[in-house]
Amino acid sequence: MVTDFISLADFSGEELLAFLDLADDLKVQKRDGIPHPLLEGKTLALIFEKPSLRTRLTFQVGMYQLGGATQLIDTRLGERESVADVARNLERWVDGIMARTFDHDHVIELAEAASIPVINALTDKLHPCQILADVQTLREHKGQDLSSLKVAFVGDGNNVFHSWANFISRVPLNLTLVCPAGYEGAPEIVERAKADTKAEFHITQDPEEGLKDADAVYTDVWASMGQEEEAAERAKVFAPYQVNRALLALAKKDAIFMHCLPAQRGSEVTAEVIDGPASVCFDQAENRLHAQKAVLATLLGNASR
Ligand code: CP
Ligand code: NVA
Repeated sequence: MVTDFISLADFSGEELLAFLDLADDLKVQKRDGIPHPLLEGKTLALIFEKPSLRTRLTFQVGMYQLGGATQLIDTRLGERESVADVARNLERWVDGIMARTFDHDHVIELAEAASIPVINALTDKLHPCQILADVQTLREHKGQDLSSLKVAFVGDGNNVFHSWANFISRVPLNLTLVCPAGYEGAPEIVERAKADTKAEFHITQDPEEGLKDADAVYTDVWASMGQEEEAAERAKVFAPYQVNRALLALAKKDAIFMHCLPAQRGSEVTAEVIDGPASVCFDQAENRLHAQKAVLATLLGNASR
């Protein structure tokens, strides 16, 4: 198995499902009060170039529950010294590096220079930790047979969508991106998902077509971190794709609503939907903890199920 967690496409389907099964086990152990100090004495450095609530807290709490510790570094990589030099320092002191960066290449540079595992905690391109937690949540609500399920991702073909596309390139799960023209995601990621998936993958501008038979309707902010200057323009372009009651009604009757958070109520989703009975967004937030603990225990501690 690869020792860094940069892209879900770096793993086989079996490896991704093993992370998910371990995440389920760790969730039960936490619930039942069974200690699981799989990373006793280990330390994880947390590098944040962008804000975070969920990622920061869940990595900190997760390492604590695994018997380890974290050290936080708020910095812009490459400004004071090279990215590689940061990696070569950190590997002398800690057992793993988690990084949230703007430039995806910075996470790759860290991984190439460091002999210790590097975990991608969101870049402009990918958000793999989020999708592991999301699939854990999807299985809890819709069952283990992912190949029979359909996720409709509504909105921007962004970092979160890219990681969904990478996931379905390794594990059969039906995915449709419902987006305005020009926001279909990075061609190389879309092409890989099309070529590699053993399920259905479609992109459409038509919500009616895209949400038909969907078991889960997913959305994310229209302007991601770093795209603040485009927010006004994007608000106009994405307006027809707001997940409101009428749009959600195009999916299956029992469809769940998913959002990685933070959410902008009144923009990509109405309060009625995100605070309504279909919403599982706080289950997703909880599962960030369990899913990332599975990644940490596997990469830093060689845990397997
Ligand atoms: N979903 C997510 O990654 O949240 P944060 O930006 O708060 O970490
Ligand atoms: N696409 C969003 C996800 C936030 C968790 C962003 O990058 O800002």
